[in-house]
Amino acid sequence: MVLSERSKYALNPIDEDNELAERLIKSGKKVIALNRGDISLYFPTPKYIENAAIRAIKENKTYYTRSSGIPELIDAVKGRYKRMFNVKLKEEDIITTQGVSEGLYFLNASLLNPGNHAIIFRPYYTQYVPSIELSEGKAYYLDYDEEREWDIDTDELEDHIKRMKEKRGIKYIMLTNPNNPTGTVLKKNTLERIVDLANEHKLILVSDEIYDEVVYNKAKFTSVAQVAKGVPHVILNGASKNLDATGFRIGFMIVPGEDKTSMELKKKFADFAGVRVSVNAPAQYAVAEAISNTKEHRKAIGKMVGEIEGRVNFAFKLLGENPYLQTVRPNSAYYIFPRIDLKSLNYNNDREFVSEFLREKLVQITRGSGFGARSHIRIVALPAKPVLEEAINRLNEFCEKKAR
Ligand SMILES: Cc1ncc(COP(=O)(O)O)c(C=O)c1O
Repeated sequence: MVLSERSKYALNPIDEDNELAERLIKSGKKVIALNRGDISLYFPTPKYIENAAIRAIKENKTYYTRSSGIPELIDAVKGRYKRMFNVKLKEEDIITTQGVSEGLYFLNASLLNPGNHAIIFRPYYTQYVPSIELSEGKAYYLDYDEEREWDIDTDELEDHIKRMKEKRGIKYIMLTNPNNPTGTVLKKNTLERIVDLANEHKLILVSDEIYDEVVYNKAKFTSVAQVAKGVPHVILNGASKNLDATGFRIGFMIVPGEDKTSMELKKKFADFAGVRVSVNAPAQYAVAEAISNTKEHRKAIGKMVGEIEGRVNFAFKLLGENPYLQTVRPNSAYYIFPRIDLKSLNYNNDREFVSEFLREKLVQITRGSGFGARSHIRIVALPAKPVLEEAINRLNEFCEKKAR
């Protein structure tokens, strides 16, 4: 066989029905796509950011940059963490990546030997598992507690760590806060308890905080960097969501600690950055401006998050009219992740439900099992309210019909 054994893990469930959607579109049908969380498709990247990218190109800033990122961008990230979280970073604590996507690859390739495990909570962001498996590691699955608004049961976490640590070589605990796909924000006391457990059992904490400014409904976000108290931790963040610049492909890995593990991690992430030479230069200049121009950023993010809050709450309310769905209210990001009563709808699995819904009602969503949580669906609530209304009405009609 020409392909490697592990290449089978290169899969993305969010796009798995794209071929079907394209066939429908080619045959003249109009498909509503609620599968990809691409914010910049619905909210154009703010002008001041676009202008900074254009300026960089005109000034011929089109070369390879320092592999860990241009000093202007590193300074901007330092300023952001001081301003938002009172966390003091040094230059070497920050590595620029081609999105969090590349950061995940650096993380897993740096940490996992064959058979090593990372603790991942279901539902998880789809890229975590391929990234772990392609590094020949293994995911050790636990579940967020849907009954408690997708909180983490820290007693259960402790039990599993104690039971499995020696046997499975657990390297790190992965958190997604705010969460895709559930839209929940972890409580400060949950994070503090996890920090204590990581400390006690010598585990690294990794927190994907890419939506840390897309928080609403009066929810309060705490960064792991604020509570980590000397536990080695890696924060993943970037420009895609908070700065509404998905296509710029800029991310950051932040390792604030001074302990031996943290020092090894920052050095190794920098080595990985060196191997892939450079991140897109004009995009780095644009993102440096996007972060450091706090006046423009505040204006842009305030307006965008206010609009997202309205859209998500609107869609959440409409979904509440469907007796076959049960949804925890999201307070961040822009996803809604209802539990779906497949049995009453006469479906064996969420995959069939999602494909048939697309075929019959021309709305593309994602199956929950793609995030490790069967009997759920993920809806991206980014389009304008009339589009969301149309899509959810179709979903509600579809369920009514299938339940008969
Ligand atoms: C939780 C989470 N992490 C990472 C990413 C990927 O981010 P990037 O665009 O920086 O690669 C996404 C994108 O949807 C996400 O939802």
